[in-house]
Amino acid sequence: MRLLFLGDVVGRTGRQVVVDQLPRLRQRYKLDFVVVNGENSAGGFGITEAIFEDLLGAGADVVTLGNHAFDQKEALVFIERQPRLLRPVNYPAGTPGKGAGLFKAKNGADVLVINAMGLIFMPELGDPFRAVEREVEACALKKGSDAILVDFHAEATSEKQAMGYFLDRRATCVVGTHTHSPTADERVLPGGTAYMSDAGMCGDYESVLGMDKEEPLNRFLTKIPRGRFEPSNGPATLSGLAVDVDDETGLARRTAALRLGGVLTPTEPLFWVE
Ligand SMILES: [Fe+2]
Ligand SMILES: [Fe+2]
Repeated sequence: MRLLFLGDVVGRTGRQVVVDQLPRLRQRYKLDFVVVNGENSAGGFGITEAIFEDLLGAGADVVTLGNHAFDQKEALVFIERQPRLLRPVNYPAGTPGKGAGLFKAKNGADVLVINAMGLIFMPELGDPFRAVEREVEACALKKGSDAILVDFHAEATSEKQAMGYFLDRRATCVVGTHTHSPTADERVLPGGTAYMSDAGMCGDYESVLGMDKEEPLNRFLTKIPRGRFEPSNGPATLSGLAVDVDDETGLARRTAALRLGGVLTPTEPLFWVE
């Protein structure tokens, strides 16, 4: 089975690169399942139902979120009728929506997707390790699921690496999001879990975290807000992680970063090219 994960979609240019490229990628690489982080897809802040549906239309099976999950207030309502939209699982009890779900892949496999948020330099949520472990144990690999993908939305690389090893051998893939810059540490961990500290963003890298450079720079220099943060709308790079899954074990055989378009040096999962 072939999985693709795409990092935080930022603004219109990020949505555009997903809509332009994902249908072709699904076909070219014969992808069975695609997860996209959409927490910044609506003008950099949150997600609307129309945008969520556009991402599904482009070929996402599931859309995950993060600290910007509910920046667009309508998400508090529509997340309840959209089971393919996940917010971090360690939000307080009673938060709208769900943090995990079991979904059918194109090849018929059952894929458990979990979204969790780190605690370091992030809002104070529940323990992400125990929250993710509960979901994994309730639907373990080759017992309740054929593959398990965890989007760990966190600032600190240490916390993300710890989550990778915590779930090694128990999850197919642990991929980090939130920092919007892809790390160069993608690999299969010793137990068979594909891991990357951060998938990067689908957005314009000629920017500060996908936002137009001017206002972030102004705030660092003067400490006085002069305007709003607006997404930078130059050509976007599609950034993500590809995973080749062993159907017998549900663990990763190979993994590789995918970067396409925009200003970053392109890279493609060569093991998928026949
Ligand atoms: Fe983000
Ligand atoms: Fe974030």
